[in-house]
Amino acid sequence: MAFPFARSDFPPGFRFGVATAAYQVEGTAFGDCGPSHWDSFAAAPGNVLDGSSGARACEHYTRYGEDMDLAAGAGFDSWRFSANWARVMPGGRRASAAGLDFYDRLTDAMLARGLAPHLTLYHWDMPAALADLGGWRNPDVVHWFSDYAEALLGRIGDRMHSVATINEPWCVAWLSHFLGLHAPGLRDIRAAARAMHHVLLAHAAAMEAMRARGQRNLGIVLNFEPGDPASDSPQDRAAAARHNAIYNRWFIEALMHGRYPEEALAGLGAHLPAGWEAQMPRIAQPIDWLGVNYYTRMRARALPEAPWPAYAAAPPEGETTDMGWEVYPQGLSRVLRWLAREHTGDLPLFVTENGMAGDEAAQVAGAIPNPLPDPQRCAYFASHLAEVRAALADGVPVRGYFAWSLLDNFEWAFGYTKRFGLVHVDYATQARTPKTSLHDFAQMLGGRGIL
Ligand code: FCB
Repeated sequence: MAFPFARSDFPPGFRFGVATAAYQVEGTAFGDCGPSHWDSFAAAPGNVLDGSSGARACEHYTRYGEDMDLAAGAGFDSWRFSANWARVMPGGRRASAAGLDFYDRLTDAMLARGLAPHLTLYHWDMPAALADLGGWRNPDVVHWFSDYAEALLGRIGDRMHSVATINEPWCVAWLSHFLGLHAPGLRDIRAAARAMHHVLLAHAAAMEAMRARGQRNLGIVLNFEPGDPASDSPQDRAAAARHNAIYNRWFIEALMHGRYPEEALAGLGAHLPAGWEAQMPRIAQPIDWLGVNYYTRMRARALPEAPWPAYAAAPPEGETTDMGWEVYPQGLSRVLRWLAREHTGDLPLFVTENGMAGDEAAQVAGAIPNPLPDPQRCAYFASHLAEVRAALADGVPVRGYFAWSLLDNFEWAFGYTKRFGLVHVDYATQARTPKTSLHDFAQMLGGRGIL
């Protein structure tokens, strides 16, 4: 079963890539990586489902050549990766030669294979030394982060195709400081409000530092999960509106219009740092492109007895993935159209993550076949690529699509139990086995062939 598209069904110059993230693949035990708040979080019992951490992960630190060969062989032209801040700055403030050398090697390995490097500065590995000073709660994070951006780009900036400041500020701030599900694991509305604002100010400071050094093609990656009311009741409709304000509108409205939505300010306003209003124009400085991560939608149910924001997700309907997330491809074109219409206009959009978790190896008895059949994932990609085409047909300026992810990897609070890869990883041996979905991409992209 191949995707019903060819590369020529997408506009000329449309980029196809795979997305990865440092902490999820590299292995922090290798090289001179410093500790990050993800190491501290993972070390606390109960935070990560299987008690694991990113210490070994996919050993990408040494196996990156083999991994990039798989992506290049499949015909991808772009590689989205992040740098581990704690590898670049093990103590949080001073760059490490070994860390910079690693990202230099990684960059050259991409270029040698014809993969355009799309860097994300922050995919969640805050140095533990800075987390101990309050991390995203401390306003000093703004210059800590721009100093980091300068140090890293001073070394590899000349070869980056694009740079994103932050991956998924909603996860950085809300999921990690209000819901407590990611590092640093806080459940504190005041901490969350500070992080919701500081993460955007840090983005702005890094933009300024990068522009000053002549860095081009700069953006940020936001995640979107459209909220629909679980019923027609006014309470559920208001719950969905609160979800949309906190999750889907907060960051884009700040970045594009210099404002925060009223429904979110209702709960967060009292906890924002003093003087935040005057900082909004800085946050709304121009970007060159926007990254859109999309996986699913949510159906919001009001929880009238609970404190603000007083809602929860209703159980999904229809097909779900191993994460329990509803397969809802039409949400992707809905988000893309809504962004272009309401917020981003002509700004180039990139789908910087899209994919699904499934444990296909558990379905086969004995040795893992090559390729490993992953029909649900193949169908997921086909249906979501169709929605990208629908948005393009409506004139939405989508310029690229990145599959999450090349490899099965450390899926944060789920440890190694959720597998999103186009390639299966046996964590005991580190053997890589392509799944059928990688072959489907190769067929669509006219790849040279997967070894
Ligand atoms: C996104 C993250 C990425 C991965 C996927 C499944 O929220 O950016 O690192 O965990 O979800």
